[in-house]
Amino acid sequence: MKDRKRDPYYRKAKASGYRSRAAYKLLQIQNRYHVIRRGDIVIDLGAAPGGWSQVARELGASRVLAVDRAFMEPLEGVSFLKVDAGDDSALSLIAAEAKTGTHVVLSDMAPRLSGTRSLDHARSVDLAERALAVAGGTLREGGRFVTKVFQGDMFPSFLRRVQEKFARSKGFSPPASPRGSAEIYIVAQGWQGRGTP
Ligand SMILES: C[S@@+](CC[C@H](N)C(=O)[O-])C[C@H]1O[C@@H](n2cnc3c(N)ncnc32)[C@H](O)[C@@H]1O
Repeated sequence: MKDRKRDPYYRKAKASGYRSRAAYKLLQIQNRYHVIRRGDIVIDLGAAPGGWSQVARELGASRVLAVDRAFMEPLEGVSFLKVDAGDDSALSLIAAEAKTGTHVVLSDMAPRLSGTRSLDHARSVDLAERALAVAGGTLREGGRFVTKVFQGDMFPSFLRRVQEKFARSKGFSPPASPRGSAEIYIVAQGWQGRGTP
């Protein structure tokens, strides 16, 4: 708790009314890549407690569908679907809820850490693959995609898979990511709609 209180992003988030310090990671991604635009329909995977959904709304998203396996307190302008992205039925449930073509799919999903770096990496790549499948099933042509993934030996092949589906994709480490953390965000723009991933 003491460490958290010394963390400037934790303090800023508290002072600004954001539900998580993670809100600053999305703001930093936005400053660099401009992924969310006014009027966008956004799917936010791994949304709880809601920092990214708050930022998406502030940036002008007209509708946000927040998805998490954990409960999330309601937020204005945000609908919530409690589902585990690992379940077989998850993609069809999310696509049915999203209803119309989505502009942006975000994923900040993270596995429960085991402490074994290679296992956590593999689980994180699996979650990022789920997020890519949601993108493939819901994005409109030209759509944008942001996903967290822990770096490790499967990272380059996952990045290549994303690059095949989008016109432009890059790895980005926002300054708000904890120092020494393996996490990186892939930011992809220009969904080319060639089938589902
Ligand atoms: C780092 S937190 C997200 C923080 C959020 N972006 C924010 O700004 O408040 C990661 C979230 O991913 C969710 N998560 C992890 N695995 C999941 C899965 N298989 N399906 C759905 N949500 C998952 C966790 O429950 C957790 O709420």
